[in-house]
Amino acid sequence: MNHFLDIHKTTPSDLRAMIDQAAAMKQARAGRSKGAADDAQPLAGHMVALIFEKPSTRTRVSFDVGVRQMGGQSMVLSGSEMQLGHGETIADTARVLSRYVDLIMIRTFEEDVLLELAENAAVPVINGLTNRTHPCQIMADILTYEEHRGPIAGKKVVWSGDGNNVCASMIHAAGQFGFDLTFTGPETLDPERVFIEEAQAKGSKIEIVRDPARAVEGADLVVTDTWVSMHDSQTTKERRHNQLRPYQINAALMAQAKEDALFMHCLPAHRGEEVTNEVMDGPQSVIFDEAENRLHAQKAVMRWCLGL
Ligand code: CP
Ligand code: NVA
Repeated sequence: MNHFLDIHKTTPSDLRAMIDQAAAMKQARAGRSKGAADDAQPLAGHMVALIFEKPSTRTRVSFDVGVRQMGGQSMVLSGSEMQLGHGETIADTARVLSRYVDLIMIRTFEEDVLLELAENAAVPVINGLTNRTHPCQIMADILTYEEHRGPIAGKKVVWSGDGNNVCASMIHAAGQFGFDLTFTGPETLDPERVFIEEAQAKGSKIEIVRDPARAVEGADLVVTDTWVSMHDSQTTKERRHNQLRPYQINAALMAQAKEDALFMHCLPAHRGEEVTNEVMDGPQSVIFDEAENRLHAQKAVMRWCLGL
């Protein structure tokens, strides 16, 4: 079963094939309106369930549009409105949904929910974000980097701020796509050690540098994300802001990176907090290409899951 649960759980050759197919599908649609069908309709006759236990703009819309462009049908489900949110087990939910749909995408809190769903489903399951990882985002980011600058292998990516779920998937990608990653942020918000060690074992240079100005030296790509994620308690907000303020991406910090360095943010951004307007709207920013590429990358992920 081709579940898309995480980047480090998917082979480098499959990941590469997905990125290349995403680029080709994007190219083939150039100039078309968003609602126009793709020439090929690989998802014709297929039903996709999109389950959300957390808010979403990009993931929700890009998956839904992607399914439709490929000729399939989708249904967006809110976890709290399903029996799942009222005591039905995840395993039973997986078995029932497998009788109705061909593919399930879920955004949830605990990773265990995703894993239990995948274990009990008779159809492929896609991780649309958990507290721990966000692989679809990083597939879009790889596509975006390569569109602008060519192969990401051997490049230096700097993650500044919270070592969160999106950062974790970027570290996984470093190992699988063969790039180096420097994390800069406060020690209390470091990424999980196990993820760092796995990527290092695959040959990537993964470093932690506390001084953000030093960290971004020689960077090809600078990335950040919100300082308070959806699963973080609001009571930690002030402490997080105080700890993370030195790691804000601003023009002065970007000036320390390579001259042609790109800036990425998965969005939604908190302008003036983790990143300034000047960087968000500046020439190095590719944030809206990233958002668009969620659509193209996930179309390739869905085709891979279904073997289509
Ligand atoms: N980047 C991302 O996953 O955005 P949404 O939360 O809007 O889906
Ligand atoms: N780290 C953020 C990403 C949102 C797309 C969160 O989990 O809220």
